[in-house]
Amino acid sequence: MDGRSSYVLFLVSVFIFSVAGRLALGKRIATIHVTNSMPRELQPIQLGCNSRYKDHGMHQLRVGDDYEFGVEERALHFCEAISGRQIASWHAYQPRRDWNHKAVFWRVKENGFFLSWDNSSWVRKSVWQTE
Ligand SMILES: *[C@@H]1O[C@H](CO)[C@@H](O)[C@H](O)[C@H]1NC(C)=O
Repeated sequence: MDGRSSYVLFLVSVFIFSVAGRLALGKRIATIHVTNSMPRELQPIQLGCNSRYKDHGMHQLRVGDDYEFGVEERALHFCEAISGRQIASWHAYQPRRDWNHKAVFWRVKENGFFLSWDNSSWVRKSVWQTE
């Protein structure tokens, strides 16, 4: 095989692997819901979530608003929130903790970050830090 055709073969395999990778990532494992339940008078929070594979971007979430994103890899997903001079980062999706659940609910409150799998009973998992 000459250099040119092995280069073409290389490009074709790169293409096939990248398409296969996208297909494997395209299946939703769980949906993460984050609700801003801070006191009504506060400004919106800034919220950004990501895994090592995907960055879901920064979003502004007013009090009472919901944000959701899909988990497509069995990987740790972090969310980071900023509210005034307070900041927090927590495990929004933890494969070992959440693998058995299609939905993971979070409530962002003044006294911390609460997890629920049924949107009704809540456990505090993290707290705000002051910068
Ligand atoms: C979760 O519960 C709240 C009420 O507490 C409701 O407004 C919201 O729609 C529920 N979310 C989902 C995804 O069921």
